[in-house]
Amino acid sequence: TSHFDYHDRTLCADHTPLTAIAEQFGTPCFVYSADALSESFASYANAFAGQDHLVCFALKANSNLSIIRHFARLGAGFDIVSGGELQRVLAAGGDAGRVVFSGVGKSEAEMRLALEAGVLCFNVESVNELERLNQVAGAMGRRAPVSLRVNPDVDAKTHPYISTGLKDNKFGIAYAEARAVYRRAAALANLDVVGIDCHIGSQLTDLTPLLDALDRLLLLVDQLAEDGITLHHLDIGGGVGIRYRDETPPDLNRYAQAVREKLAGRKLKVLMEPGRSLVGNAGVLLTRVEYLKLGETKHFAIVDAAMNDLMRPSLYDAWHDIVPVSQTDGPAQLVDVVGPVCESSDFLGKDRQLAVEEGALLAVLSAGAYGSTMSSNYNTRARAAEVLVENGQPRLIRERDSFAQMVANELNLLEPR
Ligand code: LLP
Repeated sequence: TSHFDYHDRTLCADHTPLTAIAEQFGTPCFVYSADALSESFASYANAFAGQDHLVCFALKANSNLSIIRHFARLGAGFDIVSGGELQRVLAAGGDAGRVVFSGVGKSEAEMRLALEAGVLCFNVESVNELERLNQVAGAMGRRAPVSLRVNPDVDAKTHPYISTGLKDNKFGIAYAEARAVYRRAAALANLDVVGIDCHIGSQLTDLTPLLDALDRLLLLVDQLAEDGITLHHLDIGGGVGIRYRDETPPDLNRYAQAVREKLAGRKLKVLMEPGRSLVGNAGVLLTRVEYLKLGETKHFAIVDAAMNDLMRPSLYDAWHDIVPVSQTDGPAQLVDVVGPVCESSDFLGKDRQLAVEEGALLAVLSAGAYGSTMSSNYNTRARAAEVLVENGQPRLIRERDSFAQMVANELNLLEPR
C-alpha cells in the first residue's frame, strides 16, 4: 500500500497534505513516511521470521539520523561503508554490535574506529585489506571479526544489469581465490573468521541471480568446512529492487523461502544489507514550479529542485514518476521537468504528460533512497530540508542549509584580520 495517496485531490503523506508541508517547511524538501519505513522493515522481518537473521540497513541509501534511529528502534542492524557512517549509527543510538562494515577502501583510521566501537563484522574485500586489518587489530590488542566479500561471478549474459557481482569490477574477492584467502585469514593471529558475504548489484528485479549467488557461496561454505573453517553467518547482501515505473520487485516471501530451503540443516545466521528496498518508496521530493518556459522544440517546467538534490536522473538516466500535488482539471502538456542548475543534464524527468502551472507543487516519487545522501551544494544551492511524517505529524529532520553552513569550512584568505 502506498503511503503517498490523494485525498480531496491533494497528495498526502500518510494523510498529511504535502501542500501543508510545503507551506511549513518550504521547497525543495524530502518528505518521508515513518509508517512506510516500518512497513518495509516489517516485510523483511516477516519474510525471514523463524530464521535466525539480521536486517542491516545499508546506510548509504539514506543516512539521516532520524531515519537511522527509526530503524534502530525497529531492531535493525546497519551496513556501513565509512567511518562517517559508523559515527552516524552511534550518534543515532544504533548498536555497533549490529553493524557490518563493507567497502573496498577502508583506511587504518576507519578500522580503528570500527574496532574501538566493536562492530559485528568487517566485510573484507581483498587480501591486502585482510593483512592491514590484522595489523591494526594487533596493534590495538584486539581481534577483528571478519567475513570475506566473495565475488560470485554470476552469469552476466542472462542478467546484464548486475553490476557488482562480475569478474571485471573492483568489488569482492575472486571466487576462485576465496578458499585460499580464507585459509590465510584463519592463519592470521588477530582475526576471527565469522562469516561470508556477497553483494551482486542493486535494483535487481529478478531473484535468480541472487539465488545463484547464494548457491555459489554455499558451495564455498562446504569447502571451507573441509578446511576446518566454520562460519557463523552468511550475508546475502542487498540489491532487492523497487518499483519506480513498471518494474516488478522480487517477492520477499519467495526470496526468504528460497533462502530458508537452501540453508536448511545448516547453523548459519542470515544477514542482509538492503538499502533501497527499505527506504526508496518511503520518500518523495517535493518541489515547486518556478517557471514554465516554451523552448523552440520543448516545453520546460523549471522547478526549484535540481540535480544537486536528486542526482539519479542525471547520473543514471533513472526514471522517477513525477506527479502534481494538487490535481486540477487543467490540460496536460508534454514537459521536461528541469532544475535551475547550469547543466543540460539537470533534469528530473523528460517528456512527462503533466498539467502544470507556475507556482504549482510537484512530487518526485521514489526519492527516499539515494536522494538526499547523494545530494550536493553544486551551484551553491542549499541542500534540501527533510521532513518525517510520523503519527500524522510532520517533523523537520534536516534543516535546509544556510549560506553560512555552505561556506563554514572555507577560509577566506582575503578577509582582513
Ligand atoms: N551492500 C553493499 C555492499 C552495497 O554496495 C550496496 C549498494 C548495498 C548493500 C545496498 O544495495 P541496495 O539494497 O540499496 O540495492 N546510487 C545508486 C545505487 C548504488 C548502490 C551501491 N551499493 C542508485 O541511486 O541507484
